[in-house]
Order: sequence, then C-alpha cells, then structure tokens
Amino acid sequence: MRETRLWSLHILVIPVIAVLLGMHFAVQHYAPVFYGMSVEKARDFATMIERGRSTAQFVVYILLLAAGLYHGLYGTRGIIRELPLSPAMAKVVDWGILTVGVLIFALGAYVTWWTFVHPGV
Ligand code: HEM
Ligand code: HEM
Repeated sequence: MRETRLWSLHILVIPVIAVLLGMHFAVQHYAPVFYGMSVEKARDFATMIERGRSTAQFVVYILLLAAGLYHGLYGTRGIIRELPLSPAMAKVVDWGILTVGVLIFALGAYVTWWTFVHPGV
C-alpha cells in the first residue's frame, strides 16, 4: 500500500513537472518569444536576481525543485532496487536516497531563498 502511494506520487508529479518546467523553459530558452528579451539578457545575473525577488517565481521554483527531485530520485531508487539486494541493503539505499534528496532540496531551497531576499544589483 505504501509502495503504491509512493509510486502514484511519482506519476502524479509528472504533469506538475511538465507545466513548471515548461514555464522555466519559456523564461530560459524562449525569452524572445514570451518576454521580448534576448536569451543572453534572460540569463544575465542582474535579470536573474530581479526575477528571483518575485513571490510567484519563488513558489514555482520550490515546487519544481520538490517535484523534480521526488520524481527523479524515486525513479532512481526503483532502478537500484531492481538489483538483488538484501533487506538491510535495500534499507540503506532508501535512507541514502532520502538523505541525498533532503540535502539537494535544502541547497536548492537556500539558493532560491537567497535570490528571493536579495536586495538587487
Ligand atoms: C515532463 C517531464 C517528465 C516526464 C513526462 C516524465 C515521465 C516519466 C515516466 C512516464 C516514467 C515511468 C514511470 C513508471 O512507469 O514507473 C518516468 C520515470 C523516471 N523518470 Fe521521469 N519524467 C519527466 C521528468 C523527469 C526528470 C526531470 C527526471 C530527473 C530529475 C526524471 C527521472 C526519471 C527516472 C530516474 C525514472 C525511472 C526510470 C526507470 O524506472 O527506468 N524524469 N518518467
Ligand atoms: C538548459 C536548461 C536549463 C537552463 C539554462 C536553466 C537555467 C536556470 C537558471 C538561470 C536558474 C536561476 C533562476 C532564474 O534565473 O530563473 C535556474 C533555476 C532552477 N532550475 Fe533551471 N535551467 C535549465 C534546466 C532545468 C531543468 C531540466 C530543471 C528541472 C528538471 C530545472 C530546475 C530548476 C530549479 C528547481 C531552479 C531553482 C533554483 C534552485 O532550486 O536551486 N532547470 N535554472
């Protein structure tokens, strides 16, 4: 039952990733189409800091970070757990993946928070 719930979440976050990553790509790769701005300007440090101060962008990035990390790491766990592991090793894999996820989330959230509270350049 628990495994079904974890797998369902892995599938349910796919549309979330598709939408948020689409928005991210609109900013990073299609800025001339959607924002009338060159790609170089869109990835400029000052532009990035300016964007980072928006609450909407803060929410989008935290959600994309969580959804992408969960989907990617759950998928990776699934691949590793197909190996013939002892129950003890399977537990080590689970805790290892969870630890990696929490650490990357903390780093990503910190970076996003840092740009959110940045006074600007
Ligand atoms: C819109 C973007 C994405 C779509 C449509 C998508 C779709 C899927 C689907 C349908 C599966 C198979 C699920 C299953 O049957 O259990 C899957 C598995 C997986 N996805 Fe994604 N995914 C996306 C983004 C990502 C991203 C960004 C990552 C990495 C961070 C990622 C990593 C993985 C991994 C590692 C697996 C497991 C592969 C396996 O079991 O062989 N995916 N994805
Ligand atoms: C070549 C492709 C990509 C480029 C050029 C790119 C560029 C950037 C840039 C410049 C930022 C800083 C914020 C901003 O300026 O808006 C950022 C943040 C971020 N990107 Fe991407 N990105 C790419 C692909 C991806 C993919 C595939 C994902 C997820 C599957 C992703 C997830 C994120 C997240 C979650 C953040 C927030 C920062 C953080 O959590 O540390 N990006 N990206």
